Amino acid sequence: MSGVVVQNMSFKVGQTLMATGVPNAESTNFSINIGHSPEEIALHFNPRFDAHGDHRTIVCNSYLNGNWCEENRSGSFPFNLNEQFQIKITFTNEEFHVILSDGSEIHFPNRPGAEKYKYMHFDGDVRIHGIEIK
Ligand code: GAL
Repeated sequence: MSGVVVQNMSFKVGQTLMATGVPNAESTNFSINIGHSPEEIALHFNPRFDAHGDHRTIVCNSYLNGNWCEENRSGSFPFNLNEQFQIKITFTNEEFHVILSDGSEIHFPNRPGAEKYKYMHFDGDVRIHGIEIK
């Protein structure tokens, strides 16, 4: 597995996860994954510059019991190659709120409904500069 994996560091309801990073010059896509394990991902947040037939689109999904669920796509795409972004994520037992660099917000259902996740994986064509939970 590539990228940055954070294990056994809990991210709980009421906390905010802040991540900064820079998509590589050649980035096709990258993802931020939050869940219980690689097989149980509550939030797969996947900005696609040019991947899987999508152009400059954010795809969100969950991966549960070994299967991808229903995708959500959002309009805003405040990401550029070689340019730093900041993402803030909070959640309740019902949904994730992802706040992007331009202030726009994405809501995505918390399908497993848990109040604590201990597995985070930053994957794909991105350099992560910082990860903070507080
Ligand atoms: C697939 C892609 C996965 C993931 C998923 C989200 O097409 O291969 O990496 O992004 O979509 O639904």
